[in-house]
Amino acid sequence: MKAVLCKAFGPAETLVLEESANPEVKKNEILLEVHAAGVNFPDTLIIEGKYQFKPPFPFSPGGEAAGVVAAVGEQVSHVKVGERVMALTGWGSFAEQVAVAGYNVMPIPAHMDFVSAAAFGMTYGTSMHALKQRANLQPGETLLVLGASGGVGLAAVEIGKAMGAKVIAAASSAEKLEVAKAAGADELINYNEQSLKDEVKRLTGGQGADVIYDPVGGDLFDQAIRAIAWNGRLLVVGFASGRIPELPVNLALLKGAAVVGVFWGSFAQRQPQDNLANFQQLFAWHAAGQLKPLVSQVFPLERTAEAINALGQRKAVGKVVVQVR
Ligand SMILES: NC(=O)c1ccc[n+]([C@@H]2O[C@H](COP(=O)([O-])OP(=O)(O)OC[C@H]3O[C@@H](n4cnc5c(N)ncnc54)[C@H](OP(=O)(O)O)[C@@H]3O)[C@@H](O)[C@H]2O)c1
Repeated sequence: MKAVLCKAFGPAETLVLEESANPEVKKNEILLEVHAAGVNFPDTLIIEGKYQFKPPFPFSPGGEAAGVVAAVGEQVSHVKVGERVMALTGWGSFAEQVAVAGYNVMPIPAHMDFVSAAAFGMTYGTSMHALKQRANLQPGETLLVLGASGGVGLAAVEIGKAMGAKVIAAASSAEKLEVAKAAGADELINYNEQSLKDEVKRLTGGQGADVIYDPVGGDLFDQAIRAIAWNGRLLVVGFASGRIPELPVNLALLKGAAVVGVFWGSFAQRQPQDNLANFQQLFAWHAAGQLKPLVSQVFPLERTAEAINALGQRKAVGKVVVQVR
């Protein structure tokens, strides 16, 4: 099979497209014939050796994929050969085939194509888990989303609206904010030009945001925690800025606020039934037209490096997908 391979840690330009051995399928796995693979921020980190997982060389990056089941291990019973599925792979998806643990695979609804399915699982799964299980977001509450035009951020805007929240989208440019507005955001903050803290206070009549969704970290976290409402919940989703912030915990005390970690991959593994229920709701919203995954760019397999750089260089909006077939 053809695969984009990482043979040593380095920038995306060092990835090579080569013939590689077909993966072997263990008893608890399926073999996926990859049609499309979604690009996520961890792909920018895993090739540089900066992610929490460091697969042995050579490996293909690519954390999620959609395609057709080519083989099924004897312990897997919920999907069949020939079925259209989406999968969370961790790595290995920028290739024609990937072996995936069965619990990370689910059928694609009939109304979703491969490119949309490859752009759906990670971002919507993460943001749904964050807003439902971790924040317990309530109708009428104010949700502030940082990095609101990015993969998980844009999904959080849409899900927040579907859950009945008032959504304030915050991003680094007017173009990115337009994307968040088109996804349903009620208010917009350009944090390159405006004070995030002051604008959130102004837009909430001095109260602050009930729930803050933060996939960026760094200086934005420092400002956001100072604009949280009484009994607010700040969701720690990621650190796309590159800096893991530190919290003076008196700020949590003063607002009766909670700083809540979000780790969707672990949730999906530990609480598969809850994750499945989340996806049933997400698929229902998608079928009803309430969620419209934005795929802004589709690259062929041989241009995977450009696809990864779109995220790493802060240029992407919505999702970037690699079309493998
Ligand atoms: N906790 C979980 O379970 C989970 C699951 C999936 C992803 N994540 C994490 O969530 C974060 C976002 O992932 P994603 O796939 O949505 O990425 P993405 O599409 O690239 O979005 C990241 C956003 O972060 C902002 N950003 C700020 N500084 C940046 C920088 N130096 N480089 C790149 N982006 C920067 C950008 O928006 P502006 O330009 O508007 O600031 C960008 O839209 C990552 O840290 C990822 O690891 C966590």
